[in-house]
Amino acid sequence: MSNSIVIFGASGDLTSRKLVPALCSLFRKKRLPDNTRIIGFSRTTFSHDEWRVKLRQSTAEFAADEFHDDTWNTFAQSIFYHAGDIDRPDDFKFLAGHLDELESGQEATRVYYLATAPRFYEPAVTGLGHANLADETRGKRRIVIEKPFGTDLATAEKLNQVVHGVFAESQVYRIDHYLGKETVQNILVLRFANTIFEPVWNRNYVDHVQITVAEEVPVGRRGGYYETAGILRDMFQNHLLQLLMVTAMEAPARYRADSVRDEKVKVLQAIRPLSGKDFSCDTLRGQYRGYRQEPDVRPDSTTATYGAIKLWIDNWRWQGVPFYLRSGKAMSCRTSQIVIQFREPPHLIFRTTSRMKVEANRLVIQVQPNEGIQLQFQTKVPDAGMQLRLTDLDFSFSKEFNHVLPEAYQRLLLDVLMGDASLFARADEVERAWSIIDPIISAWQSPAAPELEIYEPNLWGPTCATRWMEDQGREWFDTCPVIKCH
Ligand code: BG6
Repeated sequence: MSNSIVIFGASGDLTSRKLVPALCSLFRKKRLPDNTRIIGFSRTTFSHDEWRVKLRQSTAEFAADEFHDDTWNTFAQSIFYHAGDIDRPDDFKFLAGHLDELESGQEATRVYYLATAPRFYEPAVTGLGHANLADETRGKRRIVIEKPFGTDLATAEKLNQVVHGVFAESQVYRIDHYLGKETVQNILVLRFANTIFEPVWNRNYVDHVQITVAEEVPVGRRGGYYETAGILRDMFQNHLLQLLMVTAMEAPARYRADSVRDEKVKVLQAIRPLSGKDFSCDTLRGQYRGYRQEPDVRPDSTTATYGAIKLWIDNWRWQGVPFYLRSGKAMSCRTSQIVIQFREPPHLIFRTTSRMKVEANRLVIQVQPNEGIQLQFQTKVPDAGMQLRLTDLDFSFSKEFNHVLPEAYQRLLLDVLMGDASLFARADEVERAWSIIDPIISAWQSPAAPELEIYEPNLWGPTCATRWMEDQGREWFDTCPVIKCH
């Protein structure tokens, strides 16, 4: 049986930077099932060959390390192009005819990938329905929808309704590329394929959890989009909440899409809704100096480019353990990390001075870069009396496995082809996530908003964030990953 991957938004950035390089890498590694063809769909008129040439250039640029002419030439024979307009339902009928022709009228699995601007998601789904392209009489039909899935709860619900009018939920794959990262999947392995972490992974041993996604890059040319999104829609509703879910969820009975997603949704259901004073006491917002001068940004913009939120998960495992989520642009370095900060020993028998504070144990899951895990613990400094120092057991993916981690899209694309939705967001998951973030977005546009602090680029965000943590007797783990040579 063959596979057809139809990419809507074929002339866009996502296709050339991520999707086609990922498919080409899979092909090179012989992971792409035989008889898989790629069909680009967008308004620009290209011949098959013109599109292949364009993709060759971009793949050589964006997957330079893995690019080989011979591989590309073979791979490119499976690439086709179909010009069409998403807003014209009849164009989907022409597409259907073209697909039948490419598949020689045989049974085939089809993946429809919406890599377009979000405003085209609804017309694309409607067009696919109009041409009966979701019908599974002649093979599986799956739709992949990129983020953002809606801009708030109401629009996400509406989009889900439109999607469900054409596709069953089991045919729908909502992307959050964070779930395609090896290190994020490894959190499930760390927690559920080992016994030593589970007994301490709860309120009895954990003081708090910090989830940080810091980016060094500013908003740059994405000002137009960013002005409507801000940090909450861009990073919190999706990536940060996904990291929170995999960190806090219970073990599913088995690794199956719905078992995994049921447990993740339960975490979102247990998050205590923010209300009243919580918005000013438990959330922080900031904007980096210079953001207002970025292209397409209003000179008086109050869009937050940094956010920090304290959330409580009201269940037996996590009662009383705060989860601190933060993310920002133009910060000190690029780092995504989850810090499980354990409690201090109940009684310390060693003498300490104010300079020599004894820090409690910490498990640092370094999602990127320098992917790995560090377990930090106190050690006696040799030949220095009873002086103590925090040291770590350091696991590094690159040292252990000696190869570069694959791009998230490789795994995600393969999973869609195989029909495994474990690493994709379900309709209820996306809606729940919006119902947590929506009230914060509204509060940030109201008098209940915390003050918007302008922070200096290349630091760890607003200074008020440091004081905020100190007031709670805690400290951010402001550490840039050290690039080590192995
Ligand atoms: C995207 C956001 O979803 O994730 C971007 O729109 C952000 O603003 C990016 O830069 C971060 O992804 P990664 O994989 O580079 O951490």
